[in-house]
Amino acid sequence: MSDSNRRLVIEGGESIVDFNSKAFKAVPESGIEDAVATMRAGMMYRYQPKRAEDSHVSLFEAEFATHLGSNFALGVNSCGAAMFIALNIAGVKPGDKVLSNGFTFTAVPSAIHHARAEPVFVESNLEWGLDAEDLENKVKESGAKVLLLSYMRGHVPNMDAIMAVVKRHDLYLIEDCAHAYMTFWNGTKLGNFGRIACFSTQSSKGLSSGEGGILTTDDIEIAGKALLYAGSYEERWNRHFGIDEDLMNTLQNQIPGYSMRMTEVCAALLRPQIPRLKEIYQIHRQNYHYLEGLLENHPNIEIPKPFPEVEMFCDTIQFHLRGLTRKQADSFIEVMSLEGIDMQIFGVKRNARDFREWQFLKDIEAVELPATVEAIEFACDLSLQPHLNTSHMDVIAQVICEVLAFIIMD
Ligand SMILES: Cc1ncc(COP(=O)(O)O)c(C=O)c1O
Repeated sequence: MSDSNRRLVIEGGESIVDFNSKAFKAVPESGIEDAVATMRAGMMYRYQPKRAEDSHVSLFEAEFATHLGSNFALGVNSCGAAMFIALNIAGVKPGDKVLSNGFTFTAVPSAIHHARAEPVFVESNLEWGLDAEDLENKVKESGAKVLLLSYMRGHVPNMDAIMAVVKRHDLYLIEDCAHAYMTFWNGTKLGNFGRIACFSTQSSKGLSSGEGGILTTDDIEIAGKALLYAGSYEERWNRHFGIDEDLMNTLQNQIPGYSMRMTEVCAALLRPQIPRLKEIYQIHRQNYHYLEGLLENHPNIEIPKPFPEVEMFCDTIQFHLRGLTRKQADSFIEVMSLEGIDMQIFGVKRNARDFREWQFLKDIEAVELPATVEAIEFACDLSLQPHLNTSHMDVIAQVICEVLAFIIMD
């Protein structure tokens, strides 16, 4: 960073940002009270309550399934765990190939690695969605039968085209909805397209409990297998809603339990957040579109539009920096941080969303994804949490524009 970057550029050295744009959502008071009550009673383990009706986890599962419109939901301890269980249920064996996004968070290829399988990366386009044409090519080249489709940052690919490839090649579709709460394609919530969907409740996500995950499905056999993989043993499956006893007696002891259960405390924190999702969705969308309007005509900013069929959750915004050198783009992020707004560029500086950094994968150096590199190398990422309002968006836009002017002039 040059010396001139080491000063604040707006309002003569004083930052005008007096808020934390990245602060995560607080838990509703009723959730805190319920969590404290479970701790006071020493009832933190999901199978301590003898009946599903008395378990926060089982009730959360029923409430989330209703919210999504799926038949079953299973609370687990992370989205990574949900994806790992899903891959096991899909029949993935060590050495098998699994299709997934070249642009996503490291947890996604890590789940494939955890299953001792090999990812086959599919290109992302400039809108950060999976490229259906490249998917078709990679299916043909690899012969892979499972697709772990990540809606990274809530961006939605052309689902009609993706589903056509899925059907044509009879792919087993697992959706990674970590960033895709309340996200719609043609009015259908994401999480309803695949055999299994996986959600995260880690703190930055739409539902927030520090750590946690949810696996959803419409298939009763998948649901039964999933709860056993998560670590339900003996006959504790009778503390889940909607389970078929005959089926569970058949599956019992045929499936390893990987100890990936959700705790009662976690579910207590999450339950009152489900009805809050709709309100948060409205706030996110209002902020996003307001900020988009302020920035979209800037000559150095390109904000890709989603397909008309898409409604996004909009808890983050991404844009491509245009007309800047690498050095200028990196300086932009540094000066934004000095001004009090933390942003990142996906494709630089050991970012965990850049596939070139996933060196735990065999032969990652040989992976060539030119379109994905183009999609991430100047892509800025900013969190828009729901405590923010349109006045904050005015400040954010002002800071972005002034910092860009400063960087370009420098
Ligand atoms: C796109 C994506 N998928 C999956 C995950 C994994 O979620 P978790 O941290 O709950 O395992 C993350 C984590 O942030 C993510 O960004």
